[in-house]
Amino acid sequence: MSSEQLNLFPLSAQITPAGELTIAGHSLVELADQYRTPLYLYDGQTIRHQLDTLTGLLERHYPSPSMVAYASKAYFSYAFACKLAELGAGADVVSLGEIHLARQAGFPAEVIHLHGNNKSEEELLAALEWGIQAIVVDSLDELALLEELARRAGRRARIWLRITPDLNVSTHPHITTSHRASKFGLHVENGDAENGIRQALASSWFHLTGLHMHLGSQIFDAEPYRQALRRMFAAAEAAGYIPQEISPGGGWGVRYTEHDPDDSAEPWIKAVSQTVVEECQRRGWPLPKLVVEPGRWLAARSGVALYRVGAQKTTPDGIRVVAIDGGLADNPRVALYQASYTARVVQRAADEPSRRMRIVGKFCESGDVLIPEIWLPPVHRGDLLAVPASGAYQLSMSSNYNYAARPAVLWLEPGRVEVMQCCDRPDQPGWWVYRPEEAR
Ligand code: LLP
Repeated sequence: MSSEQLNLFPLSAQITPAGELTIAGHSLVELADQYRTPLYLYDGQTIRHQLDTLTGLLERHYPSPSMVAYASKAYFSYAFACKLAELGAGADVVSLGEIHLARQAGFPAEVIHLHGNNKSEEELLAALEWGIQAIVVDSLDELALLEELARRAGRRARIWLRITPDLNVSTHPHITTSHRASKFGLHVENGDAENGIRQALASSWFHLTGLHMHLGSQIFDAEPYRQALRRMFAAAEAAGYIPQEISPGGGWGVRYTEHDPDDSAEPWIKAVSQTVVEECQRRGWPLPKLVVEPGRWLAARSGVALYRVGAQKTTPDGIRVVAIDGGLADNPRVALYQASYTARVVQRAADEPSRRMRIVGKFCESGDVLIPEIWLPPVHRGDLLAVPASGAYQLSMSSNYNYAARPAVLWLEPGRVEVMQCCDRPDQPGWWVYRPEEAR
């Protein structure tokens, strides 16, 4: 297999002369033996590269200050948050848990913004108390609640308004957020966006610093970003507001298989930068700070899921079914979005694919199919399968269905392995079992 065909894997992935897949020079066979499977690996080099690429693109295309804020819902843990904070990224958080994790990990308050269509009072108060860059208000209802909380706390709230441009984007219906029926944001078409801006400007308890939008996820077309930004600027102008900060959200797509389109972020960053510049120039407004908030684009490619092959069978209709020791619990994306994945046999990564098979998980659900059809070299019990592009929305959406242990998560650098999360094991102390008699 040529190294070109590893282009879905982290940048440090290589195939040894013996035909074994490695990441950052580490033997995946040894890591799997030591940390058990399923096992999730994050490649430090790839994360840094993705972040540097976006920062570089912003510097090239946007002539004013800008920032990359990681959408932490893609994957967050204390150790991972510490890494991103160290790298100088900002973060978009959506819950009390993410607020606390970001704070403990050392992110400065000025680079954090809080999302959510139904933030609790506790979440809003925690954000107010921390003094974050912006609470992103999602509705007129929330605007009223936050005003009341800010008044009671005696603290002026720095806010953005999330504007919903009411347009469709081409992606899976479960991950579009900007259409007319979306539960997210202040819609443009019914006047909520304009009213929200006016109300926020009229209250002394708010410092309205910017506007935000997020169209959806796994998007490869930059045109909807242009249209949506134009609508957002039109709403701002109608309400007599000049934003100091603008966020076009995240959502740029990544490649999961060889069939996915090129995922260079340049068309995206270029389109949002150009449109913001054009819209401001047309109105004679100063350029705002531009804040992009990718999750998947930063995290997906650096992550690899490692599974061990177990039972195999051939069904009466001739399908070779190969079961692995993970699946639906650590990666619900296939069941939820019909997501496509590919895989390599770690021990024989250079071998030509010669067998057609279906990779299924071990969970008690017929929908627990990781890859409905794939050609691989012959696989045997004990072989390892490495699934690329596993760094986003897998672990963060995982469950412990069937009382599955959550996988260990490692951060890999050449010559160094850091455990970011350890595998909880049912046979060891610390395994989460609630015993009411102990709680009394
Ligand atoms: N900003 C906001 C306000 C968001 O809601 C999201 C994702 C992002 C940024 C980051 O989007 P990204 O760049 O990662 O596409 N679980 C689904 C994806 C849900 C995305 C939710 N919001 C999946 O596995 O495909």
